Amino acid sequence: MNADARPRTVLDLAAMKAAGRRIVMLTCYDAAFARLLDQAGVDVLLVGDSLNQVIAGEETTLSATLDQMIYHAAAVRRGAPGALMFVDLPFLTYQVSVPEAIRNAGRVLQETGAQGVKLEGGCAMAETVRALVDRGIPVLGHLGLTPQSVHALGGYRVQGRDPGGAERLIADAQELERAGACGVVLELVPAALARRVSGALAIPTIGIGAGAGCDGQVLVLHDMLGLNEGFDPKFLKRYAALGESVRAAVRAYAAEVRGGTYPGPEHSFE
Ligand code: KIV
Repeated sequence: MNADARPRTVLDLAAMKAAGRRIVMLTCYDAAFARLLDQAGVDVLLVGDSLNQVIAGEETTLSATLDQMIYHAAAVRRGAPGALMFVDLPFLTYQVSVPEAIRNAGRVLQETGAQGVKLEGGCAMAETVRALVDRGIPVLGHLGLTPQSVHALGGYRVQGRDPGGAERLIADAQELERAGACGVVLELVPAALARRVSGALAIPTIGIGAGAGCDGQVLVLHDMLGLNEGFDPKFLKRYAALGESVRAAVRAYAAEVRGGTYPGPEHSFE
């Protein structure tokens, strides 16, 4: 990979970290946005199980299914055939047994063209991560606020604030690296702790609500574009106000249809 090239394989991620190049990741759920994100130079597309909230309108990620993830990931792949793409393994598709995890992660790679899967958890998932990696399935870890454990964690809150929790998080990250993970997403973690974790690993950390010390950043696409207006956590920066743009465009269309000015002759066939 040359100095400014985008990563095309999972091995490029550690190379980017070694070269001090920050990784740009965004979630993506469909072909139209995949095309745009790829054209804009995003390094990694993540088909996150957040689609269960963003696209399907559910409260949590817990009811996302493997078929749902595969449907959206295949669409993303069609929109961005050359992109580096990870797909979340949804709740209960990898926690029950290692063979189930291998079969389900394998389906994701076979049916979507993704280069890897993401799963939540640290030491408890190390055996599964190792089994997947040993079978040629790259794995991205996910620590800190792990949304599939939202009930056990008592809500969507910052993790690792207490010394014990911080040490556990570092140990989890190191165990994921030993198990062969190619990177770790850190969600809702104090910035100083995320910086420590990043310094302790050769694989990259990708933060969301984890400060500037991570090796890359990820945001949920609809949040950063202003399409999810009710959601306003401290870490989120909105780079556009597409919600307002959509309303304005639709109001203009409705007014023209009602006023009989759309379609005009230039939009009509002889
Ligand atoms: O599902 C998702 O979108 C994620 C990101 C928040 C990292 O896991």
